[in-house]
Amino acid sequence: MSNHENTSTSSQTQSRKPEPTVVVIFGASGDLTKRKLLPALFHLEEAGLLPEEFAVVGVARRDLSATFAPDMRKGILDGGAMEDDPKLASFVEKISYHTTNFDDSEGYAKLKAKLEGIDKEKGTKGNRLFYLAVAPEFFQEIVDKLGEQGMDKAQGDAHVRVIIEKPFGHDLESAKALNDGVAKVFKEEQIFRIDHYLGKETVQNIFVFRFGNALFEPLWNSEYIDNIQITAAESIGIEGRGPFYEKAGVSRDILQNHMMEMLAFVAMDKPKSNDAKDVIAEKVKLFKAIQPLTEENTVRGQYGKGTVDGKDAKPYREEDRVDPKSVTETFGAVKLDIDTPRWKGTPIYLRAGKRLAKRVTEVVIQFKQQANPILEGAKEGDCQGLPTNLIRLRIQPDEGIKIAFGNKRPTPDTVVCPVEASFKYVDAFGKYTANGYERLLLDAMLGDASLFTHRDAVETAWSLYTPLLEQWAKNPPADFPNYESGTWGPKASDELLAKSNHTWHAV
Ligand code: BG6
Repeated sequence: MSNHENTSTSSQTQSRKPEPTVVVIFGASGDLTKRKLLPALFHLEEAGLLPEEFAVVGVARRDLSATFAPDMRKGILDGGAMEDDPKLASFVEKISYHTTNFDDSEGYAKLKAKLEGIDKEKGTKGNRLFYLAVAPEFFQEIVDKLGEQGMDKAQGDAHVRVIIEKPFGHDLESAKALNDGVAKVFKEEQIFRIDHYLGKETVQNIFVFRFGNALFEPLWNSEYIDNIQITAAESIGIEGRGPFYEKAGVSRDILQNHMMEMLAFVAMDKPKSNDAKDVIAEKVKLFKAIQPLTEENTVRGQYGKGTVDGKDAKPYREEDRVDPKSVTETFGAVKLDIDTPRWKGTPIYLRAGKRLAKRVTEVVIQFKQQANPILEGAKEGDCQGLPTNLIRLRIQPDEGIKIAFGNKRPTPDTVVCPVEASFKYVDAFGKYTANGYERLLLDAMLGDASLFTHRDAVETAWSLYTPLLEQWAKNPPADFPNYESGTWGPKASDELLAKSNHTWHAV
Protein backbone atom coordinates (compact mmCIF):
# COMPACT_ATOMS: atom_id res chain seq x y z
CA MET A 1 0.00 0.00 0.00
CA SER A 2 1.35 3.39 -0.87
CA ASN A 3 1.36 6.25 1.59
CA HIS A 4 -0.95 8.28 -0.62
CA GLU A 5 -4.03 6.14 -0.49
CA ASN A 6 -5.66 8.34 2.07
CA THR A 7 -5.40 11.58 0.15
CA SER A 8 -8.54 13.60 -0.10
CA THR A 9 -8.17 13.36 -3.85
CA SER A 10 -8.89 9.66 -3.86
CA SER A 11 -11.81 9.79 -1.46
CA GLN A 12 -13.64 12.78 -2.89
CA THR A 13 -13.32 12.52 -6.59
CA GLN A 14 -13.37 8.84 -7.47
CA SER A 15 -15.88 9.11 -10.27
CA ARG A 16 -14.19 12.05 -11.96
CA LYS A 17 -11.78 10.74 -14.54
CA PRO A 18 -10.69 13.10 -17.30
CA GLU A 19 -10.56 12.22 -20.97
CA PRO A 20 -7.22 11.25 -22.56
CA THR A 21 -4.90 14.28 -22.28
CA VAL A 22 -1.39 15.60 -22.82
CA VAL A 23 -0.22 18.01 -20.13
CA VAL A 24 2.36 20.39 -21.60
CA ILE A 25 4.34 22.30 -18.97
CA PHE A 26 6.18 25.44 -20.11
CA GLY A 27 9.01 26.40 -17.76
CA ALA A 28 9.44 22.75 -16.85
CA SER A 29 13.05 23.25 -15.78
CA GLY A 30 11.82 25.32 -12.81
CA ASP A 31 11.30 24.23 -9.28
CA LEU A 32 7.51 24.12 -9.39
CA THR A 33 7.37 21.30 -11.94
CA LYS A 34 9.58 18.95 -9.99
CA ARG A 35 8.48 19.91 -6.47
CA LYS A 36 4.73 20.27 -6.95
CA LEU A 37 3.31 19.49 -10.39
CA LEU A 38 4.76 16.06 -11.12
CA PRO A 39 4.21 14.77 -7.57
CA ALA A 40 0.62 16.01 -7.81
CA LEU A 41 0.06 14.29 -11.18
CA PHE A 42 1.48 11.09 -9.76
CA HIS A 43 -0.83 11.31 -6.73
CA LEU A 44 -3.71 11.45 -9.23
CA GLU A 45 -2.29 8.44 -11.07
CA GLU A 46 -2.07 6.49 -7.82
CA ALA A 47 -5.61 7.40 -6.94
CA GLY A 48 -6.73 6.01 -10.33
CA LEU A 49 -7.81 9.44 -11.51
CA LEU A 50 -5.71 9.79 -14.64
CA PRO A 51 -6.76 8.30 -17.95
CA GLU A 52 -4.71 5.42 -19.35
CA GLU A 53 -4.00 7.55 -22.45
CA PHE A 54 -1.94 10.25 -20.80
CA ALA A 55 1.38 12.05 -21.32
CA VAL A 56 3.39 14.89 -19.83
CA VAL A 57 5.68 17.03 -21.99
CA GLY A 58 8.09 19.41 -20.27
CA VAL A 59 9.08 22.47 -22.31
CA ALA A 60 11.93 24.87 -21.52
CA ARG A 61 14.86 26.66 -23.08
CA ARG A 62 17.67 24.49 -21.75
CA ASP A 63 18.16 21.11 -23.38
CA LEU A 64 17.29 18.67 -20.62
CA SER A 65 16.09 15.83 -22.86
CA ALA A 66 18.40 13.27 -21.30
CA THR A 67 17.78 14.14 -17.66
CA PHE A 68 14.21 15.43 -17.47
CA ALA A 69 12.27 12.19 -16.89
CA PRO A 70 14.72 10.76 -14.29
CA ASP A 71 14.78 14.13 -12.57
CA MET A 72 10.98 14.23 -12.39
CA ARG A 73 11.03 10.68 -11.01
CA LYS A 74 13.23 11.99 -8.21
CA GLY A 75 10.77 14.84 -7.56
CA ILE A 76 7.94 12.31 -7.35
CA LEU A 77 9.90 10.22 -4.84
CA ASP A 78 10.72 13.33 -2.80
CA GLY A 79 7.00 14.04 -2.85
CA GLY A 80 6.41 10.83 -0.90
CA ALA A 81 6.07 8.07 -3.53
CA MET A 82 7.70 4.67 -2.90
CA GLU A 83 10.56 3.36 -5.07
CA ASP A 84 8.76 0.05 -5.51
CA ASP A 85 5.40 1.56 -6.38
CA PRO A 86 4.29 -0.51 -9.40
CA LYS A 87 2.72 2.54 -11.04
CA LEU A 88 5.88 4.65 -10.90
CA ALA A 89 7.85 3.14 -13.79
CA SER A 90 4.93 3.23 -16.23
CA PHE A 91 4.11 6.80 -15.20
CA VAL A 92 7.69 7.97 -15.76
CA GLU A 93 7.55 6.46 -19.26
CA LYS A 94 4.80 8.93 -20.09
CA ILE A 95 7.11 11.90 -19.42
CA SER A 96 9.07 13.52 -22.25
CA TYR A 97 10.80 16.82 -22.98
CA HIS A 98 10.95 19.44 -25.70
CA THR A 99 13.56 22.20 -25.95
CA THR A 100 12.62 25.58 -27.38
CA ASN A 101 13.07 29.26 -26.80
CA PHE A 102 9.74 30.81 -25.93
CA ASP A 103 9.97 33.23 -28.88
CA ASP A 104 10.96 30.65 -31.48
CA SER A 105 8.10 29.89 -33.91
CA GLU A 106 9.90 26.87 -35.30
CA GLY A 107 10.24 25.44 -31.78
CA TYR A 108 6.44 25.62 -31.41
CA ALA A 109 5.87 24.06 -34.83
CA LYS A 110 8.05 21.16 -33.75
CA LEU A 111 6.20 20.94 -30.44
CA LYS A 112 2.94 20.77 -32.36
CA ALA A 113 4.27 17.89 -34.46
CA LYS A 114 5.54 16.14 -31.33
CA LEU A 115 2.12 16.40 -29.66
CA GLU A 116 0.43 15.02 -32.78
CA GLY A 117 2.87 12.12 -32.65
CA ILE A 118 1.94 11.48 -29.01
CA ASP A 119 -1.75 11.53 -29.97
CA LYS A 120 -1.10 8.76 -32.52
CA GLU A 121 1.15 6.71 -30.27
CA LYS A 122 -0.68 7.07 -26.94
CA GLY A 123 -4.25 7.83 -28.04
CA THR A 124 -4.45 11.24 -26.35
CA LYS A 125 -6.98 12.41 -28.96
CA GLY A 126 -5.77 16.00 -29.40
CA ASN A 127 -6.74 17.07 -25.85
CA ARG A 128 -4.20 19.52 -24.44
CA LEU A 129 -3.63 21.18 -21.11
CA PHE A 130 -0.93 23.84 -21.42
CA TYR A 131 0.54 24.86 -18.08
CA LEU A 132 2.50 28.14 -18.02
CA ALA A 133 4.86 27.65 -15.08
CA VAL A 134 7.04 30.53 -16.28
CA ALA A 135 7.92 34.03 -15.08
CA PRO A 136 4.97 36.36 -15.76
CA GLU A 137 6.84 38.29 -18.47
CA PHE A 138 6.67 35.19 -20.71
CA PHE A 139 2.91 34.51 -20.42
CA GLN A 140 1.89 36.69 -23.33
CA GLU A 141 4.68 35.56 -25.62
CA ILE A 142 3.87 31.88 -25.13
CA VAL A 143 0.15 32.42 -25.57
CA ASP A 144 0.78 34.38 -28.78
CA LYS A 145 3.06 31.69 -30.19
CA LEU A 146 0.53 28.96 -29.38
CA GLY A 147 -2.04 31.04 -31.23
CA GLU A 148 0.29 31.64 -34.18
CA GLN A 149 0.70 27.87 -34.65
CA GLY A 150 -3.04 27.26 -34.24
CA MET A 151 -2.36 25.29 -31.09
CA ASP A 152 -5.11 27.13 -29.20
CA LYS A 153 -7.74 25.46 -31.38
CA ALA A 154 -9.06 22.01 -30.64
CA GLN A 155 -9.59 19.49 -33.42
CA GLY A 156 -13.13 18.05 -33.61
CA ASP A 157 -14.55 17.70 -30.12
CA ALA A 158 -11.17 17.71 -28.40
CA HIS A 159 -10.38 20.49 -25.93
CA VAL A 160 -7.43 22.81 -25.40
CA ARG A 161 -7.01 24.62 -22.09
CA VAL A 162 -4.34 26.82 -20.60
CA ILE A 163 -3.36 27.19 -16.95
CA ILE A 164 -1.63 30.42 -15.94
CA GLU A 165 0.33 30.62 -12.69
CA LYS A 166 0.13 33.66 -10.46
CA PRO A 167 1.06 36.50 -10.22
CA PHE A 168 -1.38 37.64 -12.92
CA GLY A 169 0.27 40.95 -13.73
CA HIS A 170 2.15 43.17 -11.31
CA ASP A 171 -0.47 45.90 -10.96
CA LEU A 172 -3.96 46.69 -12.20
CA GLU A 173 -2.88 47.99 -15.58
CA SER A 174 -0.59 45.06 -16.41
CA ALA A 175 -3.21 42.57 -15.17
CA LYS A 176 -5.78 44.11 -17.52
CA ALA A 177 -3.29 44.09 -20.40
CA LEU A 178 -2.48 40.43 -19.72
CA ASN A 179 -6.13 39.45 -19.45
CA ASP A 180 -6.90 41.29 -22.72
CA GLY A 181 -3.86 39.81 -24.45
CA VAL A 182 -4.62 36.23 -23.42
CA ALA A 183 -8.27 36.75 -24.41
CA LYS A 184 -7.16 37.53 -27.97
CA VAL A 185 -6.00 33.93 -28.31
CA PHE A 186 -7.96 31.84 -25.80
CA LYS A 187 -11.64 32.07 -24.86
CA GLU A 188 -12.35 32.71 -21.16
CA GLU A 189 -13.63 29.13 -20.73
CA GLN A 190 -10.24 27.82 -21.91
CA ILE A 191 -8.29 29.92 -19.36
CA PHE A 192 -7.58 28.58 -15.87
CA ARG A 193 -5.84 31.07 -13.54
CA ILE A 194 -4.39 28.96 -10.82
CA ASP A 195 -3.93 29.97 -7.18
CA HIS A 196 -2.85 26.82 -5.43
CA TYR A 197 -4.32 27.97 -2.11
CA LEU A 198 -7.72 27.25 -3.62
CA GLY A 199 -6.58 23.67 -4.11
CA LYS A 200 -5.91 23.23 -0.42
CA GLU A 201 -8.54 21.13 1.32
CA THR A 202 -8.40 23.34 4.39
CA VAL A 203 -9.07 26.46 2.33
CA GLN A 204 -12.00 24.86 0.53
CA ASN A 205 -13.25 23.73 3.91
CA ILE A 206 -13.65 27.31 5.16
CA PHE A 207 -16.62 27.52 2.80
CA VAL A 208 -18.06 24.22 4.01
CA PHE A 209 -17.43 25.06 7.68
CA ARG A 210 -19.35 28.31 7.35
CA PHE A 211 -22.17 27.38 5.02
CA GLY A 212 -22.57 23.73 5.95
CA ASN A 213 -23.10 24.16 9.69
CA ALA A 214 -26.04 25.83 11.41
CA LEU A 215 -23.70 26.47 14.36
CA PHE A 216 -21.47 29.14 12.86
CA GLU A 217 -22.97 31.12 10.00
CA PRO A 218 -25.65 32.90 12.09
CA LEU A 219 -22.85 34.39 14.23
CA TRP A 220 -20.54 35.21 11.33
CA ASN A 221 -20.92 38.99 11.41
CA SER A 222 -19.93 42.14 13.24
CA GLU A 223 -22.59 41.71 15.89
CA TYR A 224 -20.71 38.73 17.28
CA ILE A 225 -17.24 38.83 15.79
CA ASP A 226 -14.74 41.31 17.21
CA ASN A 227 -11.96 40.85 14.67
CA ILE A 228 -10.47 38.28 12.30
CA GLN A 229 -6.79 37.56 11.82
CA ILE A 230 -5.37 35.66 8.86
CA THR A 231 -1.70 34.75 9.07
CA ALA A 232 0.45 33.11 6.38
CA ALA A 233 3.86 32.82 7.99
CA GLU A 234 6.83 31.11 6.38
CA SER A 235 10.12 30.35 8.09
CA ILE A 236 11.92 29.91 4.77
CA GLY A 237 13.54 32.84 2.99
CA ILE A 238 13.34 33.39 -0.74
CA GLU A 239 15.02 30.09 -1.66
CA GLY A 240 17.24 31.38 -4.46
CA ARG A 241 14.37 33.20 -6.22
CA GLY A 242 16.03 36.63 -5.90
CA PRO A 243 15.14 38.08 -9.33
CA PHE A 244 11.49 37.03 -9.02
CA TYR A 245 11.13 38.15 -5.43
CA GLU A 246 12.82 41.51 -5.93
CA LYS A 247 10.00 42.41 -8.34
CA ALA A 248 7.21 40.75 -6.39
CA GLY A 249 7.71 41.26 -2.66
CA VAL A 250 5.27 39.65 -0.28
CA SER A 251 2.43 41.89 -1.48
CA ARG A 252 2.47 40.57 -5.03
CA ASP A 253 3.61 37.07 -4.06
CA ILE A 254 1.12 36.29 -1.29
CA LEU A 255 -1.08 39.16 -0.06
CA GLN A 256 -2.74 40.13 -3.35
CA ASN A 257 -3.58 36.55 -4.27
CA HIS A 258 -3.33 33.70 -1.71
CA MET A 259 -4.45 35.90 1.18
CA MET A 260 -7.30 37.45 -0.80
CA GLU A 261 -8.56 33.99 -1.77
CA MET A 262 -8.58 32.94 1.87
CA LEU A 263 -10.21 36.21 2.85
CA ALA A 264 -12.92 35.65 0.25
CA PHE A 265 -13.91 32.30 1.75
CA VAL A 266 -13.78 33.71 5.27
CA ALA A 267 -15.77 36.86 4.62
CA MET A 268 -17.97 36.61 1.51
CA ASP A 269 -21.74 36.55 1.75
CA LYS A 270 -23.39 33.28 0.90
CA PRO A 271 -23.36 32.79 -2.87
CA LYS A 272 -26.55 31.70 -4.62
CA SER A 273 -24.89 28.38 -5.43
CA ASN A 274 -21.37 27.00 -5.48
CA ASP A 275 -21.17 27.53 -9.24
CA ALA A 276 -18.03 29.42 -10.27
CA LYS A 277 -19.99 32.48 -11.45
CA ASP A 278 -22.00 32.88 -8.24
CA VAL A 279 -18.91 32.45 -6.05
CA ILE A 280 -16.95 34.95 -8.16
CA ALA A 281 -19.80 37.47 -7.96
CA GLU A 282 -19.74 37.35 -4.15
CA LYS A 283 -15.96 37.52 -4.08
CA VAL A 284 -15.92 40.63 -6.28
CA LYS A 285 -18.69 42.24 -4.18
CA LEU A 286 -16.60 41.68 -1.04
CA PHE A 287 -13.36 42.98 -2.55
CA LYS A 288 -15.12 46.12 -3.80
CA ALA A 289 -16.39 46.89 -0.30
CA ILE A 290 -12.88 46.97 1.19
CA GLN A 291 -11.83 50.50 2.09
CA PRO A 292 -8.62 51.80 0.46
CA LEU A 293 -5.28 50.59 1.78
CA THR A 294 -3.06 53.42 2.92
CA GLU A 295 0.25 53.78 4.75
CA GLU A 296 -1.81 54.19 7.96
CA ASN A 297 -3.58 50.83 7.83
CA THR A 298 -0.68 48.78 6.47
CA VAL A 299 2.82 47.74 7.53
CA ARG A 300 5.76 46.57 5.46
CA GLY A 301 8.93 44.91 6.62
CA GLN A 302 12.11 43.28 5.45
CA TYR A 303 14.08 40.62 7.30
CA GLY A 304 17.53 41.19 8.65
CA LYS A 305 19.79 38.52 10.04
CA GLY A 306 18.61 36.24 12.80
CA THR A 307 18.08 32.64 13.78
CA VAL A 308 15.52 30.36 12.17
CA ASP A 309 15.01 26.76 13.29
CA GLY A 310 18.22 27.01 15.29
CA LYS A 311 20.29 28.09 12.28
CA ASP A 312 21.78 31.46 11.41
CA ALA A 313 19.82 33.20 8.66
CA LYS A 314 21.28 35.92 6.50
CA PRO A 315 19.54 39.22 5.85
CA TYR A 316 17.36 39.58 2.76
CA ARG A 317 19.77 42.14 1.31
CA GLU A 318 22.52 39.50 1.29
CA GLU A 319 20.47 36.86 -0.53
CA ASP A 320 21.67 35.74 -3.96
CA ARG A 321 20.83 38.22 -6.76
CA VAL A 322 19.19 40.72 -4.40
CA ASP A 323 20.09 44.40 -4.42
CA PRO A 324 22.18 45.15 -1.28
CA LYS A 325 20.01 48.27 -0.86
CA SER A 326 16.76 46.54 -1.77
CA VAL A 327 13.52 48.07 -0.49
CA THR A 328 11.46 45.00 -1.40
CA GLU A 329 9.13 43.99 1.42
CA THR A 330 9.32 40.44 2.77
CA PHE A 331 6.60 41.09 5.36
CA GLY A 332 3.24 42.78 5.00
CA ALA A 333 0.33 43.34 7.35
CA VAL A 334 -2.89 45.10 6.49
CA LYS A 335 -6.00 46.10 8.36
CA LEU A 336 -9.07 45.73 6.21
CA ASP A 337 -12.21 47.71 6.90
CA ILE A 338 -15.07 46.23 4.93
CA ASP A 339 -18.03 48.42 4.34
CA THR A 340 -20.84 45.87 4.28
CA PRO A 341 -23.64 45.29 6.78
CA ARG A 342 -21.96 42.02 7.76
CA TRP A 343 -18.52 43.47 8.54
CA LYS A 344 -18.85 47.16 9.35
CA GLY A 345 -16.88 47.77 12.54
CA THR A 346 -15.07 44.41 12.49
CA PRO A 347 -11.52 44.72 11.21
CA ILE A 348 -9.94 41.85 9.34
CA TYR A 349 -6.17 41.71 9.67
CA LEU A 350 -3.92 39.93 7.18
CA ARG A 351 -0.22 39.30 7.67
CA ALA A 352 2.27 37.32 5.63
CA GLY A 353 6.00 37.11 5.57
CA LYS A 354 9.20 35.21 4.98
CA ARG A 355 11.71 34.24 7.65
CA LEU A 356 9.14 34.44 10.42
CA ALA A 357 9.24 32.40 13.60
CA LYS A 358 7.60 29.33 12.08
CA ARG A 359 5.65 28.04 9.11
CA VAL A 360 1.97 28.36 9.85
CA THR A 361 -1.14 29.49 8.03
CA GLU A 362 -4.13 30.08 10.25
CA VAL A 363 -7.39 32.00 10.37
CA VAL A 364 -8.40 33.16 13.84
CA ILE A 365 -11.95 34.38 14.43
CA GLN A 366 -12.18 36.32 17.67
CA PHE A 367 -15.69 36.69 19.02
CA LYS A 368 -16.88 39.56 21.18
CA GLN A 369 -16.70 39.02 24.89
CA GLN A 370 -20.20 38.28 26.18
CA ALA A 371 -21.27 40.47 29.09
CA ASN A 372 -22.97 37.89 31.26
CA PRO A 373 -24.40 39.05 34.61
CA ILE A 374 -25.22 35.49 35.71
CA LEU A 375 -21.55 34.66 35.88
CA GLU A 376 -20.36 37.90 37.37
CA GLY A 377 -19.84 36.42 40.81
CA ALA A 378 -17.21 33.93 39.65
CA LYS A 379 -14.69 33.42 42.43
CA GLU A 380 -10.98 33.91 42.26
CA GLY A 381 -9.28 30.93 40.70
CA ASP A 382 -6.54 30.04 38.27
CA CYS A 383 -9.02 29.91 35.44
CA GLN A 384 -11.45 32.56 36.48
CA GLY A 385 -13.26 34.73 34.00
CA LEU A 386 -15.14 34.50 30.80
CA PRO A 387 -13.00 33.33 27.93
CA THR A 388 -12.55 34.95 24.57
CA ASN A 389 -14.32 32.66 22.14
CA LEU A 390 -11.97 31.86 19.31
CA ILE A 391 -12.26 29.68 16.25
CA ARG A 392 -8.92 28.71 14.78
CA LEU A 393 -8.96 27.29 11.29
CA ARG A 394 -5.52 25.80 10.83
CA ILE A 395 -4.80 25.78 7.12
CA GLN A 396 -1.34 24.21 7.42
CA PRO A 397 0.57 22.37 8.85
CA ASP A 398 -1.21 20.14 11.44
CA GLU A 399 -4.44 20.86 9.60
CA GLY A 400 -7.48 21.11 11.82
CA ILE A 401 -9.88 23.34 13.74
CA LYS A 402 -9.92 24.47 17.36
CA ILE A 403 -12.72 26.20 19.19
CA ALA A 404 -12.09 27.94 22.51
CA PHE A 405 -14.98 28.44 24.88
CA GLY A 406 -15.76 28.74 28.58
CA ASN A 407 -16.70 25.77 30.69
CA LYS A 408 -17.67 25.53 34.34
CA ARG A 409 -14.89 24.12 36.44
CA PRO A 410 -16.20 20.89 38.06
CA THR A 411 -16.06 22.26 41.60
CA PRO A 412 -18.86 23.41 43.91
CA ASP A 413 -18.47 27.03 42.84
CA THR A 414 -19.05 28.90 39.59
CA VAL A 415 -15.65 29.43 38.07
CA VAL A 416 -15.47 29.54 34.30
CA CYS A 417 -12.40 28.00 32.70
CA PRO A 418 -11.37 28.52 29.10
CA VAL A 419 -11.20 25.12 27.35
CA GLU A 420 -10.60 24.05 23.78
CA ALA A 421 -12.32 21.55 21.48
CA SER A 422 -10.06 20.37 18.74
CA PHE A 423 -10.33 18.42 15.49
CA LYS A 424 -7.39 17.22 13.43
CA TYR A 425 -7.55 16.04 9.83
CA VAL A 426 -5.06 13.29 10.54
CA ASP A 427 -7.27 11.82 13.29
CA ALA A 428 -10.49 12.05 11.34
CA PHE A 429 -9.33 11.23 7.83
CA GLY A 430 -5.86 9.66 8.08
CA LYS A 431 -2.62 10.86 6.56
CA TYR A 432 -3.08 13.91 4.41
CA THR A 433 -0.61 14.38 1.58
CA ALA A 434 -2.24 16.42 -1.19
CA ASN A 435 -0.27 19.62 -1.98
CA GLY A 436 -3.10 21.64 -3.47
CA TYR A 437 -2.19 21.05 -7.08
CA GLU A 438 -3.84 17.61 -7.42
CA ARG A 439 -7.37 18.87 -7.21
CA LEU A 440 -6.69 21.87 -9.46
CA LEU A 441 -4.91 19.87 -12.16
CA LEU A 442 -7.73 17.36 -12.13
CA ASP A 443 -10.39 20.07 -12.31
CA ALA A 444 -8.60 21.78 -15.21
CA MET A 445 -8.44 18.47 -17.11
CA LEU A 446 -12.17 18.11 -16.48
CA GLY A 447 -12.88 21.71 -17.52
CA ASP A 448 -14.24 22.65 -14.08
CA ALA A 449 -13.25 26.27 -13.29
CA SER A 450 -14.94 26.66 -9.92
CA LEU A 451 -11.68 26.62 -7.95
CA PHE A 452 -9.82 28.93 -10.32
CA THR A 453 -9.70 32.70 -10.17
CA HIS A 454 -11.52 34.83 -12.68
CA ARG A 455 -10.30 38.02 -14.32
CA ASP A 456 -12.87 40.16 -12.48
CA ALA A 457 -11.66 38.95 -9.09
CA VAL A 458 -8.00 39.34 -10.06
CA GLU A 459 -8.55 42.88 -11.30
CA THR A 460 -10.60 43.88 -8.24
CA ALA A 461 -7.85 42.58 -5.94
CA TRP A 462 -5.33 44.63 -7.94
CA SER A 463 -7.54 47.74 -7.66
CA LEU A 464 -7.11 47.43 -3.92
CA TYR A 465 -3.35 46.85 -3.82
CA THR A 466 -2.12 48.99 -6.73
CA PRO A 467 -2.57 52.43 -5.07
CA LEU A 468 -0.80 51.16 -1.94
CA LEU A 469 2.09 49.72 -3.92
CA GLU A 470 2.42 52.99 -5.84
CA GLN A 471 2.43 54.92 -2.59
CA TRP A 472 5.05 52.58 -1.11
CA ALA A 473 7.21 52.95 -4.23
CA LYS A 474 7.06 56.76 -3.96
CA ASN A 475 7.96 56.66 -0.30
CA PRO A 476 10.73 54.09 0.19
CA PRO A 477 11.16 52.75 3.72
CA ALA A 478 13.99 54.28 5.68
CA ASP A 479 14.19 51.56 8.31
CA PHE A 480 14.73 48.35 6.30
CA PRO A 481 15.70 45.76 7.46
CA ASN A 482 13.23 46.24 10.29
CA TYR A 483 12.75 42.73 11.68
CA GLU A 484 15.05 39.99 12.73
CA SER A 485 14.76 36.65 10.95
CA GLY A 486 12.95 34.15 13.14
CA THR A 487 10.59 36.69 14.77
CA TRP A 488 7.00 37.75 14.02
CA GLY A 489 7.89 40.75 11.87
CA PRO A 490 8.40 44.44 12.60
CA LYS A 491 7.18 46.14 15.76
CA ALA A 492 4.84 48.22 13.63
CA SER A 493 2.81 45.06 12.98
CA ASP A 494 1.86 44.86 16.68
CA GLU A 495 1.28 48.61 16.75
CA LEU A 496 -1.13 48.34 13.84
CA LEU A 497 -3.42 46.15 15.93
CA ALA A 498 -2.80 48.06 19.15
CA LYS A 499 -4.42 51.14 17.54
CA SER A 500 -7.72 49.26 17.76
CA ASN A 501 -6.93 47.56 21.09
CA HIS A 502 -6.18 44.25 19.42
CA THR A 503 -3.19 41.93 19.56
CA TRP A 504 -2.13 39.15 17.25
CA HIS A 505 -3.12 35.78 18.65
CA ALA A 506 -0.24 33.36 18.96
CA VAL A 507 -0.46 30.86 16.09
C1 BG6 B 1 3.94 30.58 -3.69
C2 BG6 B 1 4.90 31.71 -3.44
O1 BG6 B 1 2.87 31.02 -4.48
O2 BG6 B 1 3.45 30.10 -2.45
C3 BG6 B 1 6.03 31.27 -2.52
O3 BG6 B 1 5.43 32.16 -4.67
C4 BG6 B 1 5.48 30.65 -1.25
O4 BG6 B 1 6.86 32.38 -2.19
C5 BG6 B 1 4.45 29.59 -1.59
O5 BG6 B 1 6.56 30.08 -0.54
C6 BG6 B 1 3.76 29.11 -0.34
O6 BG6 B 1 2.96 28.00 -0.67
P1 BG6 B 1 2.61 26.91 0.42
O7 BG6 B 1 1.67 26.00 -0.26
O8 BG6 B 1 3.91 26.25 0.81
O9 BG6 B 1 2.02 27.65 1.56
